[in-house]
Amino acid sequence: MPDHPIKHAALLFAMQDEALPLIRRLELADKGPISPPMPMRWYDGAVGALRIDVVVMGADRRFGIDCIGTQPAAVATQLVIDKLDPDLLINAGTCGGFIKRGGEIGKVYLTGGPFNFHDRRIPLAPFEKYADGGWTLCDVDAWAQALGLEQGAVSSGNSLDMNDDDAARIERAGTIAKDMEAAAIAWVADQHEKPLCAVKAVTDLVDGPHPTHEEFERHLHTASDALSETLDKLLNYLADENRR
Ligand code: ADE
Repeated sequence: MPDHPIKHAALLFAMQDEALPLIRRLELADKGPISPPMPMRWYDGAVGALRIDVVVMGADRRFGIDCIGTQPAAVATQLVIDKLDPDLLINAGTCGGFIKRGGEIGKVYLTGGPFNFHDRRIPLAPFEKYADGGWTLCDVDAWAQALGLEQGAVSSGNSLDMNDDDAARIERAGTIAKDMEAAAIAWVADQHEKPLCAVKAVTDLVDGPHPTHEEFERHLHTASDALSETLDKLLNYLADENRR
């Protein structure tokens, strides 16, 4: 937890479509690339007295699509800390949810961890725990309670689908949200001792009957709208806490 008031929050999004509803809602200014030639884009603004930066991974120079996944997320986190030095990092985005854990399309979670990886298999004794991660980097109990949001474990990997081993690791950790960035961001945040929380909106139900990619595409905009509404409430709550 930050041991000083949160006056400055930086939000990291993987996809432009996930970030746009919040950028529009908060009327953030487009500052362009944060560190050319890297593709990450930077937006800034404020909610009350709380300074807000948003960094979106941007478009891949070869493929022209959003840079989802762990390596852009880690690089972006390092750039955000180096250049902006926020009091709090927020990884905002979409996730796969789990019916067996109460997941529903459009449901939004707020969590400070644990942030795990499910697709790093290193069966060498000292590296197994390192591979899994398991960072908890922020106590969000009071925030989640005030906003009526559920918390729980997030699990990250570089695939939208999962194999049987990924599924077993996800199950063992009691995961509520499967994504492709949070644990990578957590590793960088931990090196800098920066608090990190994640706000994740469900686009697809991993243990449901529909193919993940179809559900993801169908619900991306609904989930991103729900995400922006919850982020607005969280940022206003943090801005308000600051004033006290
Ligand atoms: N983002 C949204 N849905 C996801 C899923 N099922 N797996 C990984 N990342 C996601």
